[in-house]
Amino acid sequence: MHLLALSGSLRAGSLNTGALRALQKLAPEGVAVALYDGIGALPHFNHDVEMSALPESVVELRRQVAAADGVVIACPEYAHGIPGSFKNALDWLVGMPDFPGKPVMLINTSPRASHAQAALREVLTTMSARLVPEADVAVELRNRSADEPEIAQALRTGLAAFVEACGSEGHS
Ligand SMILES: Cc1cc2nc3c(=O)[nH]c(=O)nc-3n(C[C@H](O)[C@H](O)[C@H](O)COP(=O)(O)O)c2cc1C
Repeated sequence: MHLLALSGSLRAGSLNTGALRALQKLAPEGVAVALYDGIGALPHFNHDVEMSALPESVVELRRQVAAADGVVIACPEYAHGIPGSFKNALDWLVGMPDFPGKPVMLINTSPRASHAQAALREVLTTMSARLVPEADVAVELRNRSADEPEIAQALRTGLAAFVEACGSEGHS
């Protein structure tokens, strides 16, 4: 099984990217988690461009999403919303023919921050993603390490539920 991890933060020391890196490390045998690192290099979404010549970076993003059995998203909250660069990446995926039905697991590294998570759910539902709420993980990572046993266990449990959902017919 092959999963694609998308971080909503471009920061080198990002807690969200850190959670995804921890998830990569604890993935069980037979489950590969690849971290997509091109979000900062995507052009601003432009529907005219989408309808003429799709930029190579967008082709590559769509190729990686299409090849994944499921997508794991860890995204921070900026001003009660989804960071612009991450919403931009999602906008490039709206028109992707095989995005509908794609299983998505959400990791929230700051459970106090509920606005961005709610917005993400709304956007992904509108994109016809297959959200897997039983796999969602909410763990406070500020001043903590994603490698701590309690956090690693929460990630492991969420990943197990997600892998099971990705392997099933779905459409729950
Ligand atoms: C511009 C900006 C806006 C932010 N707005 C919020 C907010 O509305 N609510 C919140 O809980 N945290 C907010 N934060 C805190 C970030 O969500 C927090 O620092 C988070 O760890 C950033 O994610 P990262 O560590 O993956 O980069 C904001 C941070 C920045 C830089």
